[in-house]
Amino acid sequence: VSDMLMDSFGRMHTYLRISLTERCNLRCQYCMPAEGVELTPGPNLLSRAEVVRLAHLFVSSGVDKIRLTGGEPTIRNDICDICADLSALKPKGLKTLAITTNGITLATKLPLLKQSGLTSVNISLDTLVPAKFEFMTRRKGHQRVLDSIHAAVQLGYNPVKVNCVVMRGFNEDEICDFVELTRHEPINIRFIEFMPFDGNVWNVKKLVPYSEMLDTVVKQFTGLKRLQDHPTDTAKNFKVSGHCGTVSFITSMTEHFCAGCNRLRLLADGNLKVCLFGPSEVSLRDPIRSGADDDQLREIISAAGRQLMVEFSWASYFPNFKFCQCVSELLFRVCL
Ligand code: GTP
Ligand code: 5AD
Ligand code: SF4
Repeated sequence: VSDMLMDSFGRMHTYLRISLTERCNLRCQYCMPAEGVELTPGPNLLSRAEVVRLAHLFVSSGVDKIRLTGGEPTIRNDICDICADLSALKPKGLKTLAITTNGITLATKLPLLKQSGLTSVNISLDTLVPAKFEFMTRRKGHQRVLDSIHAAVQLGYNPVKVNCVVMRGFNEDEICDFVELTRHEPINIRFIEFMPFDGNVWNVKKLVPYSEMLDTVVKQFTGLKRLQDHPTDTAKNFKVSGHCGTVSFITSMTEHFCAGCNRLRLLADGNLKVCLFGPSEVSLRDPIRSGADDDQLREIISAAGRQLMVEFSWASYFPNFKFCQCVSELLFRVCL
């Protein structure tokens, strides 16, 4: 792994999250206002060729995992081509090519995405009740998400990760129903602590802490076993004995995982975010468009990793400041 990916804390950033679009076909209450978000004008977004060029640079420096995110990444009509292009980086060291999607249009696209080399799928689903889904996302489509989960299982993705943001008064009563999904299917249900953020109508009272979620599961399911964690994993993983799938908790709020963080984020407009706390971003699009070569891009990326120091020391003045980089991402209204 090259120095380009080392930040000022000695952490190696080998996991690149690429946001392919800011657009979304849902309007989750905790993410977007009903009218949607202000979008970067099309010409300012990275083209397929630019995404692929940057991915190539990162992989040749040691990135071995790329996740496509949004908004909703499947909205981009070149999503399968991008996947195929990125797949061509596997011989150069890319091991995982993943997507995080809301599953609304995934079922139809997944066979081709799989053929194009997509190796893993995370699907967001916060409720098993159709009416609650419509309330939370302000759109119809609950059955389509379920169909996408099943399509992913059918196509052999194992595990199919299901992201469920738990919110008090909304879905904490469904935790055990979600765990039931793991009984016969290779599903990894991931309960995510809700992260309140500025301007969010969903406030901190909605947070259901990990300890409480775990209690709920332990009371209902005997034989819940903790599995070994991977050092860079954001999830604490468990399995109900006898179940085919697994149960995890992403404790962004009560036990953050900054120390092991290995993520870089490339936003849809070509800005790179390395930082946990700070809002600082550096454009990779502009230098590309003014003809920068790979070495110049590498220098810009390394400098962004060194810059992290400043933001980290700033954050350390606030001992109760527990937000991770995902929050600053959310502030930009980009789906994690
Ligand atoms: P895997 O690679 O399968 O482990 O997925 P992931 O967790 O990296 O990605 P995903 O897009 O599925 O994100 C799921 C949830 O993890 C998000 O809703 C966030 O709550 C949380 N998350 C993702 N990245 C970060 C991060 O860098 N910091 C924090 N605090 N949370 C994150
Ligand atoms: N808190 C926790 N998770 C969130 N996500 C979006 N906003 C929040 C929030 N405020 C989740 C989505 C999706 C994942 C990528 O990020 O539900 O599953
Ligand atoms: Fe779309 Fe994800 Fe935001 Fe929901 S959380 S509106 S699915 S980007």
